[in-house]
Amino acid sequence: MAFIRLDPLPCESSAELFFEDRPMRFAQGDTVAGALLAAGIDTFRQTPVTGAERGPWCLMGVCFECLVSIDGVENQRACMTPARPGMQVRRQTGSRHDAAAAGGDA
Ligand code: FES
Repeated sequence: MAFIRLDPLPCESSAELFFEDRPMRFAQGDTVAGALLAAGIDTFRQTPVTGAERGPWCLMGVCFECLVSIDGVENQRACMTPARPGMQVRRQTGSRHDAAAAGGDA
């Protein structure tokens, strides 16, 4: 499924986040999911058991298919998180890496 912006990305009110270390522009008011989908990215995570690719489904915080890592914190719902300039977003692969449970500071 392809998502497109109905209006062009306005230069004066756009900012930049990073997805997998790649800079990506977004519009003020975008969620992380909206920004990624508009950029053509539809795989946000892989399931822990089979590694199947998953992406946003409900876009309203219910299905948890849009989980990503944001600024090093995993299990963030991209559809419920406003995009902010400079944020570091990564796909979530496999099981959650719980730094507290592991006794580390990943
Ligand atoms: S897309 Fe369903 S919770 Fe985010």
